[in-house]
Amino acid sequence: MVRKYVFGKPFETEAVVKDSPAEKGLPEIGRISGENGFLFSYIMGENDIVYGLGEANRGINKRGFRYISDCTDDPIHTEDKSSLYGAHNFIVVSGEKAFGLFFDYPGRIIFDIGYTKAKLLSVSCENADLYLYVIDGENAYDIVKQFRKIIGRSYIPPKFAFGFGQSRWGYRTKEDFRKVLKGYRDNHIPLDMIYMDIDYMQDYKDFTVNEENFPDFSEFVREMKEESVRLIPIIDAGVKIEKGYPVYEEGVEKGYFCKREDGTDFTAAVWPGYTHFPDVLRKEAREWFGEHYRFLIEQGIEGFWNDMNEPAIFYSAEGIGELKAYLGKCMEKDERIEPWELGDKVKKLANSPEDYRRFYHVVDGKRIQHDKVHNLFGYNMTRAAGEAFEKIAPDKRFLMFSRSSYIGMHRYGGIWTGDNKSWWSHLLLNLKMMPSLNMCGFLYSGADLGGFGEDATRDLVLRWLALGVFTPLMRNHAAVGTREQEPYQFEDIDDFRGIIETRYRLIPYIYSEYMKAALNDDMYFKPLAFEYPEDSFAAQVEDQLMVGNEIMIAPVYTQNANGRYVYLPEEMMLVKFSKDNRYTKEVLKKGHHYVETALSEVPVFIRKGKCIPIVKAAECVEKLDTEQIEYLGYEGAQYTLYEDDGIHKSYER
Ligand code: GLC
Repeated sequence: MVRKYVFGKPFETEAVVKDSPAEKGLPEIGRISGENGFLFSYIMGENDIVYGLGEANRGINKRGFRYISDCTDDPIHTEDKSSLYGAHNFIVVSGEKAFGLFFDYPGRIIFDIGYTKAKLLSVSCENADLYLYVIDGENAYDIVKQFRKIIGRSYIPPKFAFGFGQSRWGYRTKEDFRKVLKGYRDNHIPLDMIYMDIDYMQDYKDFTVNEENFPDFSEFVREMKEESVRLIPIIDAGVKIEKGYPVYEEGVEKGYFCKREDGTDFTAAVWPGYTHFPDVLRKEAREWFGEHYRFLIEQGIEGFWNDMNEPAIFYSAEGIGELKAYLGKCMEKDERIEPWELGDKVKKLANSPEDYRRFYHVVDGKRIQHDKVHNLFGYNMTRAAGEAFEKIAPDKRFLMFSRSSYIGMHRYGGIWTGDNKSWWSHLLLNLKMMPSLNMCGFLYSGADLGGFGEDATRDLVLRWLALGVFTPLMRNHAAVGTREQEPYQFEDIDDFRGIIETRYRLIPYIYSEYMKAALNDDMYFKPLAFEYPEDSFAAQVEDQLMVGNEIMIAPVYTQNANGRYVYLPEEMMLVKFSKDNRYTKEVLKKGHHYVETALSEVPVFIRKGKCIPIVKAAECVEKLDTEQIEYLGYEGAQYTLYEDDGIHKSYER
């Protein structure tokens, strides 16, 4: 049962698509106070688990920390961080009582889940203008499914997007891309996508291609596609300020950029230098921005990744002005400048809350200050693209994922989890985030495998890929200047081949389970407790996941480990996939086990009485021989296979 409560005058985020009449009075659960803004509080039971918050730091159980929904471009995801790139305000309290809460509030909102006081759950925000949805149900899983029903169907990508993708910030020329392709094909490692980071553009201008490095771009797109590889370009939020650049000129002329209080266009520096932000919250501006994707689609492009859309700001014109004034004053008085103070001032230039108060959107003719709706920018940038795709090719599926997001964006695209690092702790963070993201509707998601920042080691990349085998978005991406981490850069390439081939062998299963989850508003990744609610051990497990309805995974996430402890909530069949299309199988009893796993292996635990479809690996998704499916698992088990052409929206029919 979903109950909706209205406080003040909420902004219509359109996160929820299945509307219901508002309740009178206050929710029966918790306490609400409106004295200083809005505050919801609830005393948690000793053993209550709190799930949710989508893309957030720390565990599957969110208790014991304070999280702030405030979309932030912060590449250093250490344990102390409260905000990442997304804002997913849905939680489920699961204990003696079970209920879900969705705070549909697009500004900064704080979830204190036993941080200030161990048993106190408090959710607070500055303005008491929001919708609160209270959901009760049989258990956490049931509550999630009800929530998913009201926010609408998750985005469905084309089937090729379930293949493997290679990315690196720093590929600049056709030759760079050909080299990547060759690295894969020569070593017989499957590959479906190569991502184009900002260097493909002319001076980082959206919807342009560097003509010197990519003469006859559409021919190059075709050349790659003939090798069964799709090029997936990045699109950034900021539009470069440059006379003669049509996107800029049009935006200024039509008044489609976000404005300062005095009506001038707000100016923020990002990769291209100074830019303006398209006012994607405004319908006409969204249509206009979305329409520009056509430029690349007409050259054969079938997928995109939307970036810097928190929106990230390196500094604003005002911010730099203030810094200059400060330095000027210090010089004038010949005052000593403390290096840490200066460092702090420079650091605070980026993504500053003050800047987010300096510009405005126009929604339905009304002006609204950006900070009030900050968490909706990435959502609406991606929506701009999604709505445009509907017009450009209504029956075609495009690959689309974004860095910043809010619930509602899950209908238009997936997400990647931004700039992680080549740290073992981030491999584990990746695993823990997946079910939370699914709770909030983000099914097509994944992390930068191998880690984005810092230098990766061979074993880390292998172990991380072995988790990535199961994430719908499976992409190796790294920052410029870091150690090269394409599989063919390391020794014993066949270990990498074996792992990536395992992904392709499992695609009939991964695709079927993804489609079932999307079409039934269900989860693809689940915490163990969702499948085994009576098992008190299962409720504690934070490093194993259920994937689809038939399997469990337990990836290795520590260095120099030849395996790990795994908890089996019931008897399961352990299948270890290894190189050259081989596997071994063994039935393990319910309970605790130490499972040895070589760097080249991918273990899968098939649930008792179930089986999964597998095929022989191929170099790309299109070449998988899905006529020759083998069923692996318990004898007599049945499996419902979902299939379609993977290109069109046939699932709608
Ligand atoms: C941002 C993105 C990263 C990308 C870089 C350059 O940091 O998160 O993925 O490589 O910008 O475009």
